[in-house]
Amino acid sequence: MTFRGPLERRALEYLWIHESPRSELVDHDMLRVFDRGEGAWLWDTRGDRYFDLCSSMWQTPLGHGRSDITAAMAEQARNVATAGPIFFTTRGAVELAERLAASAPGDLQHSFLTSSGSEATETAIKLARQYHRIRGDHHRYKVISRYGSYHGAGAGGLAMSGRRHKDALYYPLVPGGVHVMPPTGVADLQYAEQIREVIELEGPETVAAVIGEPVAITEFRIPDETYWPRVREICNAYGVLLIADETLTGCCRSGRMWAIEHWNVVPDVMVVAKALSGGYAPVAAMIVRQHVFSAFGSDTGSPSVQSYGGHGASAAAAVKAMEIYMEGRMDRLAESLGAELLGMLSGVRELPIVGDMRRFGLWIGIELVNPATGESYATGLKGRFEVAKELSRRLLRLGCAAARMSEGILHIAPPYVSTSEDLEFVTESVVSVLDEMSDMLSQG
Ligand SMILES: Cc1ncc(COP(=O)(O)O)c(C=O)c1O
Repeated sequence: MTFRGPLERRALEYLWIHESPRSELVDHDMLRVFDRGEGAWLWDTRGDRYFDLCSSMWQTPLGHGRSDITAAMAEQARNVATAGPIFFTTRGAVELAERLAASAPGDLQHSFLTSSGSEATETAIKLARQYHRIRGDHHRYKVISRYGSYHGAGAGGLAMSGRRHKDALYYPLVPGGVHVMPPTGVADLQYAEQIREVIELEGPETVAAVIGEPVAITEFRIPDETYWPRVREICNAYGVLLIADETLTGCCRSGRMWAIEHWNVVPDVMVVAKALSGGYAPVAAMIVRQHVFSAFGSDTGSPSVQSYGGHGASAAAAVKAMEIYMEGRMDRLAESLGAELLGMLSGVRELPIVGDMRRFGLWIGIELVNPATGESYATGLKGRFEVAKELSRRLLRLGCAAARMSEGILHIAPPYVSTSEDLEFVTESVVSVLDEMSDMLSQG
């Protein structure tokens, strides 16, 4: 096997690349070391150019090479990079918390800052348990989530995630994870009611929280209008906290600042991560409503502590990114670019491999089916990844760097700075790859 260049060789020697096995990186030539980025494009150390098809993994919607964000970070780092976290903080952290309170729905007002989505969900789980304890409800520890969901890489997050096929490697998981089926986008009241039934069966006095991504990511199903309002009612009725995990869906991706706003629902806790700094610094937040914060009173501290939670320079990057999202009306831009891209892609529906195409803001999921039988490959709940792997390999060869998120769904979530020309490139690449895959899979 030929390596692409000296840095790739050094990466393989010293760096443990996340998730992908070496066979994928080496035999299928998937490793790239990126050296430069501008707008929606990345250049590797060989000088080859790639379109950032999924905004990295949903982190970089504002594009690469932005001097406005790096200048804000540099200024805070030069003044004071970080301080605290136990008594002290920085201007950047305060301004970020203020921005989050101004943009989050309802009275979600108090932010606990972390460096990653995993730390924020982990904190949310601790918070839910502690909240009930403080209020004298000592037996509530279970967290209900949905099969197919992912809520982070920590021990708590894995237990709450619904990807048993992956997590079995790490058994035993932290106790308390209970699962229900995800919504499908049609007649979703039944899936909300399933949560109520499970609370009843588990014993309401044992359930601390329900956690969910606003959309069911694995099969890219956007819940119908009944789902979240009913889940909110159920949580209220049983005194269970509702946690919205906006790690992927937040920061305008859905065409609204926060995806849960599509359902007019205010969760008790909201997790935001990934795109919060536009990908320029690791920063995330767990935001809680007033009644949750008040329960901690004046004698109980926060549910967690992390040296880099609220890092000043990371927070300053996020403040600038939030300013761009809000003042630049990136919600409207994402919505209109998404509609434009969907129009451009309309022809792919004719391909025998395409079963359906769904859009949520500037996020399109193309569901693939077996061209011979029409059976969907979207079997993410069971965790096979063969079609997804082949898709990302072929896209990379054409100059599209794609994230592999779920089996049988081609996720397209480009940066908001994509031009119409960029979207045409995406369309041509996607049509070409799906055409090739239709032929390949038709032949068995
Ligand atoms: C919905 C959701 N929650 C939590 C996480 C974990 O975030 P991080 O990778 O920043 O730790 C992810 C990561 O993909 C996610 O998609």
